[in-house]
Amino acid sequence: WHNSPVGPGVEPENPTNRVYDFCQRPRNKKPLFCYNNFMDKNTLLSQLEALLSAETDPVANMANTAALLYHGLTGLNWAGFYLLKEGGLVLGPFQGKPACVRICVGRGVCGTAVQLRKTVCVPDVHLFPGHIACDSASQSELVIPLIKNGVILGVLDMDSPHKNYFSQEDRAFFEKAAEILLKNCCF
Ligand code: SME
Repeated sequence: WHNSPVGPGVEPENPTNRVYDFCQRPRNKKPLFCYNNFMDKNTLLSQLEALLSAETDPVANMANTAALLYHGLTGLNWAGFYLLKEGGLVLGPFQGKPACVRICVGRGVCGTAVQLRKTVCVPDVHLFPGHIACDSASQSELVIPLIKNGVILGVLDMDSPHKNYFSQEDRAFFEKAAEILLKNCCF
């Protein structure tokens, strides 16, 4: 499906219909998803819901969430998860360059989001005390805590190579994406 005739300048005619069971999909059918880097955010959320709704495995669903966000949006150089295990954050499924594996609660942007149990938006990572640089391209960062039934499970972390990249609207979008993930996972 990498050879599908979809790319910049070609709008999928109805992106939300392009969800197929990957295992049952005949080889000559349309792709599972058509990434074109200018999908609107509501379409992406519908696709995320469709992509996750048939599965409850957290690793599978986090992996597909990271892939959909990273490839469906412009302006990200990293999108993925850290999971809280034995009192610290451990790297989970992600898209982007290899990243640091363990982060203590209270350290960096991710550990701060866990400590505060709140979304942390950093317009300029160089001005955030204790920011942990995994990719030198990162300039701004948004971290959303994953909280289910009052229990914090980890974070969704997005990095951008642009300063001041994440707006209030983006924050609401990524919080909604995290909510969809949590609803569809048996952690
Ligand atoms: N910058 C993060 C570390 C994780 S990477 O961005 C993938 C932080 O300060 O917690």
